[in-house]
Amino acid sequence: MNFAIINGKLVNRSEAKVDIEDRGYQFGDGVYEVIRVYNGKMFTVKEHLERFVKSADSIGITLPYTIDECTALLEELVTKNKLVEGTIYMQITRGTSPRNHVFPARDVVPTLVAYTKEVARPVESFTHGVKTIFIEDIRWLRCDIKSLNLLGNLLAKQKAAEQGCFEAIQHRGDQVTEGSSSNVFIVKKGTVITHESNHLILKGITKEVILQLCAQNNIPVEERTFTLDELVAADEVFLSSTTAEVMPIVEMNGDKVKEGLPGPITRKLQTLFTLEIEKQCGRLK
Ligand code: PDD
Repeated sequence: MNFAIINGKLVNRSEAKVDIEDRGYQFGDGVYEVIRVYNGKMFTVKEHLERFVKSADSIGITLPYTIDECTALLEELVTKNKLVEGTIYMQITRGTSPRNHVFPARDVVPTLVAYTKEVARPVESFTHGVKTIFIEDIRWLRCDIKSLNLLGNLLAKQKAAEQGCFEAIQHRGDQVTEGSSSNVFIVKKGTVITHESNHLILKGITKEVILQLCAQNNIPVEERTFTLDELVAADEVFLSSTTAEVMPIVEMNGDKVKEGLPGPITRKLQTLFTLEIEKQCGRLK
């Protein structure tokens, strides 16, 4: 049997249902996280749960569990589902109440849901890299909140998919922000450059691990906005996310990045990132 968590209880996945007046369903009134599991162990779970609490706090939802209680619940879910390699999806909404834009009374209990999925590491893409397009960033101005409202991201990702690409690199005017579901990095003359973590992007957990790895390995970093011109002129480009890890970008808008092969710093960061996973979760196959 496969299990899901609804409000602190493990239930049969096929019986896990929420009400049609759940505010997540009607308004996207909630926040979410995606956590990676390797060898049956959660990677950077503390960081994900801290961001979850922060996202929820910033829209006035209080998590009814401590981070330790949440961790224990998720561990139980992974164990029960015998998940070895995959992801946990979790979200919290403001709960169920008659449809009204105004927040419901404080006694309405938030709905917390979590379930797992088997997902293999995209090793083929790690080796060869992925194609991307550019797209204007039309999202709201609180992209630091991991909100359930993903229409801007979905429209961008769909455009990329329709053009046979893995990701859409978003930009506001000529300033590059982030991918539709990833952070974007360029490498120029040995320096790794990525958008500073402010309200225009999600502060990726993978991004933070990469920045720590750069610091530990004397790879210079600049966290600042960069332009489309800088992106096009970069020596290397890669993206990061929980599921894509350190993913080389080898084509942008139909043009190859350099020779169309993953660059040396991207390769190095892939190796360092894999070692970091193994440190936390044990040896990968
Ligand atoms: N997306 N930026 C956006 C807009 C994202 O949706 C994500 C992750 C990231 C990378 O964050 P992290 O390294 O913490 O995964 C950046 C997840 C994986 C998703 O929506 O499925």
